[in-house]
Amino acid sequence: MFTKKDVVNAILKNSDLNLKEMGSAFAPSNIALCKYWGKRDKELNLPVNSSLSISLGELGSATEIKLSENHFDEIFLNNERVDPESLFYRRAIDFINLIRPSNDLNLKILTFNSIPTAAGLASSASGFAALTMALNDFFGFNLSKEDMSVLARMGSGSACRSIYNGFVKWNKGSNENGLDSYAEFIPVLWSALRIGIVEVTAESKKVGSRNGMNQTVETSRLYKSWPKQAADDLDKIEHAIREKDFQLLGKTAEQNACSMHATMLSGFPPLIYWLPETVAAIHKIHQLRAEGLPLYFTIDAGPNVKILFEEQNTNVVKEQFPKLKIVKPFGS
Ligand code: PMV
Repeated sequence: MFTKKDVVNAILKNSDLNLKEMGSAFAPSNIALCKYWGKRDKELNLPVNSSLSISLGELGSATEIKLSENHFDEIFLNNERVDPESLFYRRAIDFINLIRPSNDLNLKILTFNSIPTAAGLASSASGFAALTMALNDFFGFNLSKEDMSVLARMGSGSACRSIYNGFVKWNKGSNENGLDSYAEFIPVLWSALRIGIVEVTAESKKVGSRNGMNQTVETSRLYKSWPKQAADDLDKIEHAIREKDFQLLGKTAEQNACSMHATMLSGFPPLIYWLPETVAAIHKIHQLRAEGLPLYFTIDAGPNVKILFEEQNTNVVKEQFPKLKIVKPFGS
């Protein structure tokens, strides 16, 4: 059994400290087209299956780090001081403690999220990725993206994918220490691809993805079919990306998301992230598709629906979903 600290020590053993006045980084949020669902090692956040995501361009977290003028760590989220008693603060500081070279270095961390926190839009992914990259910048460690991906993974699994823009694949790896479980960039530019976010609610969900996935693995009988399904879906999605086959991409991503939710629903207590508005959006997408509009959806551990479509259908999609937040993952 390896601890997080063992992994950090292995990564930092050849890095010197080169403290800067300020460290900063931006990391995009990401949405999985083939989901990470289930851990084979809870301490290190090692996944049961490999996954694949698309980063959300300018939507994400920007983080700045300086030395604190006080004798304690301070965190500000969107200009508001984070309560040191909160889970958010504890998780961030536990993570920083793994990486910080000396306890005398108290930090002031400023984070700005351009996405609602904890609403199923993966703010923890961009948050931990930006924090990892900003710590690397501040301490001057000069780590590779692979190493930063391994570190970010230990903060939040999906954060390992937010180190990159565009399409990103997280290889589950097989080493016990998880040093081979990191994400890598898939060099395909698909500029016509669009993601529309149907924001059903910006409220925090009651069951976080960490507890949700553990509960599913422990109690769902359907879960045993998940690893094989995820592996098959991943192959199809990679193929669809290489060929720019939108129908195959959308169909596979939608089925993958629904299969993940089926495992949640078949655990106990059944885990239902969907709200009535989520289901209404799904029906609407299916209706429009039946009428010939090529659009598909995916949903993470939350109620918000993400619609996949292509640039040429933007106007029709906008008419149907007037409040849709449209993301261009590859910029304009
Ligand atoms: O990284 P976590 O612990 O927030 O888990 C993410 C889980 C899903 O969003 C449902 C799937 C994924 O691959 O992002």
